Amino acid sequence: MDTIIAKIQNKDSDEAIYMKAAQILKNGGLVAFPTETVYGLGANALDEMASAKIYAAKRRPSDNPLIVHIADVADLDKLAVDIDDRVKKTIKAFWPGPLTMILKKNQCIPDSITGGLDTVAIRMPSHFVAANLIKKSKIFIAAPSANISGRPSPTRAKHVIEDMNGIIDMIIEHDEVDIGVESTIIDLSVDKPVILRPGYITKAQLEQVLGEVFVDPAIQGNIADGVIPKAPGMKYKHYAPKAKVIIVDGKDNDVIDVINCLTKDKQLEGLKVGIMTCSENMKKYKADVVFDIGSRYDEASNARTLFEALRLFDEKKVDYVYSESFPTNNVGAAVMNRLIKAAGHTILHV
Ligand code: TXA
Ligand code: MG
Repeated sequence: MDTIIAKIQNKDSDEAIYMKAAQILKNGGLVAFPTETVYGLGANALDEMASAKIYAAKRRPSDNPLIVHIADVADLDKLAVDIDDRVKKTIKAFWPGPLTMILKKNQCIPDSITGGLDTVAIRMPSHFVAANLIKKSKIFIAAPSANISGRPSPTRAKHVIEDMNGIIDMIIEHDEVDIGVESTIIDLSVDKPVILRPGYITKAQLEQVLGEVFVDPAIQGNIADGVIPKAPGMKYKHYAPKAKVIIVDGKDNDVIDVINCLTKDKQLEGLKVGIMTCSENMKKYKADVVFDIGSRYDEASNARTLFEALRLFDEKKVDYVYSESFPTNNVGAAVMNRLIKAAGHTILHV
């Protein structure tokens, strides 16, 4: 199929882009668009045939439910039931923004969107393109990240083009996203709030609004150990480049020495090596590709760059990626969560 690729750049031409995209969505087609977290792959959430196309385009397992995106809080009770005070407080504090809530679903939501669960994931994005698209198409948009399943989520339009050109109806291009990792997911369908996926909104921020918040143990654990995550998507090996990723953790100088040593060994075997580092250590490494994901004092910049780095290693066809670990005070917790998954939990403590 020919994919329409259209860039948001000025008021005059933008309107025509939104109108075209809205028409495609209303006719059951697929449109990729930027959000503040990552690019999403959208379809009409209440149209079962349309959502089936998302699973096919992404090659996504059908038991992995989708997030429904809305542009107006007033629409929430069309999609979910049991909207209590906790939900209202959470909305007031964090919407629109990078937070997804799991709520008991309204019967109008097709089972195919929720993987047969009796709950639904809902998010109100703050990105103006996402918000405009939802408003102008007058539908709710089901949207996973716009990557082929298992690949790093797209933070730039060119990543969406790499994965989806020729497969979906339209790609709306805009700048690099602001955040770079997917939304925090909090389950409010249960008595005690539980974080199912870490993101830009931290546990501490949520606790200021909700009191004690729990974290799904599977987020830290190794799924091979038999801990099954509550968010079905979190059980898949995700975000992984084709290379084998190994995290090396320890004191700075030890980490640098070990990574340089391992790199030399692999290169002697004729293999290509990539290294992921903070900018402070950039010059201390020698490898085929050295990629710095920002200062170790700037977790936001680490988040914005992580998926781009993982994609670049693929492009350069490296066989091994050695990565430092990164601070986890804020959005860094989400960065390390994605990195540990990319590494299939392979962490070398030195
Ligand atoms: O930032 C984001 O959330 C992006 C942008 C596009 O909005 N979307 C995104 O969607 O990351 P996706 O499909 O890549 O991840 C959705 C996650 C999956 O892990 C899925 O299993 C979980 O949300 N999820 C969806 N519905 C759920 C439910 N009812 N209960 C538990 N987990 C759910
Ligand atoms: Mg995803």
